[in-house]
Amino acid sequence: MIWDVPLFDLDYGEAEEQAALDVLRSRWLTQGEKVAGFERAFASAVGARFAVAVSSCTAGLHLAAHALGIGPGDEVILPSLTFVATANTIVQTGATPVFADIESYDRPLLDAADVARKITPHTRAIVAVHYAGWPCDMTALTALAQSRGLHLIEDCAHAPLAAWQGRKVGTFGAAGVFSFFSNKNLSTGEGGMIVTDDEELARRFALLRSHGMTHPTLERHKGHAADYDVVELGFNYRMDEIRAAIGLVQLQKLAANNARRAECAAHYRELLRGIEWIRIPFGDEKTLATSTGVHHIFPVILGGHLEEDAKRTSRTRPTCSTGPTDGKEERACVSRAEVMRTLRERSIQTSIHYRPVHTFAFYRQRFPTPDAALSTTCRIAPRLLTLPLYPSLTAAQREKVAAALRESQM
Ligand SMILES: Cc1ncc(COP(=O)(O)O)c(C=O)c1O
Repeated sequence: MIWDVPLFDLDYGEAEEQAALDVLRSRWLTQGEKVAGFERAFASAVGARFAVAVSSCTAGLHLAAHALGIGPGDEVILPSLTFVATANTIVQTGATPVFADIESYDRPLLDAADVARKITPHTRAIVAVHYAGWPCDMTALTALAQSRGLHLIEDCAHAPLAAWQGRKVGTFGAAGVFSFFSNKNLSTGEGGMIVTDDEELARRFALLRSHGMTHPTLERHKGHAADYDVVELGFNYRMDEIRAAIGLVQLQKLAANNARRAECAAHYRELLRGIEWIRIPFGDEKTLATSTGVHHIFPVILGGHLEEDAKRTSRTRPTCSTGPTDGKEERACVSRAEVMRTLRERSIQTSIHYRPVHTFAFYRQRFPTPDAALSTTCRIAPRLLTLPLYPSLTAAQREKVAAALRESQM
């Protein structure tokens, strides 16, 4: 289907095409000079000492947790309102994911106070997710991690160049992990980057991403090393040269494209002002005073009067367990399914970020978490709707989205 207003569109042009072509013609495709160059440029862009390119953010999250020694018997605290990879990679280490709630409707970001409540003697780490491109409260989370002796990993998939009190995300914890999946602010198709200030950790990330081998293929190809040893059990989580070359071009565009996203988001806010059944997160005082967001996605909450609803009857008791169905509770306010249908009829693509991870069948069976333990997450989740957002989204397209939203409730 070709949409008039797709959810997302790439900013790829001749520079990306030329970069890929140059690599093909160089006849060196696997991890080499382009990857090293992309790592240096990315580390400098986010203000980290080291960056290690990987095949995806998922690979990077797994590598970070594994290299930090997280494994069976450990608990790791993370939000349920995230993409499933954040949790899967913890489970893959053998550790137990423990889901914590989000701060509020305005800040659907990991809540340090709830994390603190969920710490046990088995807790080893916290994974903070900078949802939608907005930083978590890194002052509270770093203080908590430090005082309780926990590792802090940042899932920065949505947030390249986002900043908390002027400092870029990814640089607060032991490791920050970014995604370059197609729809991300910086795209290489698939790809990811781990950043850290810890030299020893960076060395281990590099070793473990390539089978635990002491000398990479390029070094041997160039005659710098004749042989290699395998000193740890590693993975093949490498990035290739084509992606790194495209990544270097995309990185040069990133700040300008983030600024375009910010303009689009500001226009949406203007257009949607006055619609009392739509609430737009990240416009609160705390966020405005502390955060530079990078607007990866534009989620809105349908059915504006959440606090009042929460105080009222059982009708609004949070119910996530069956997933984000358009059940009774939601229909009492605004039906997300109906809104999505109206927009689809007008060729506008929307999405949902996210069905909470603890509601998926695998997690319900293996790591059951009562909805009551995640009440804000569960209240918000069935009402979340993601509107189209990308740098080349035109004013006319944004107006069309806003008009369709109004019409959906007429
Ligand atoms: C919050 C979050 N974490 C992790 C990932 C995984 O990223 P990748 O697709 O690069 O593995 C995504 C991807 O969408 C994400 O949104």
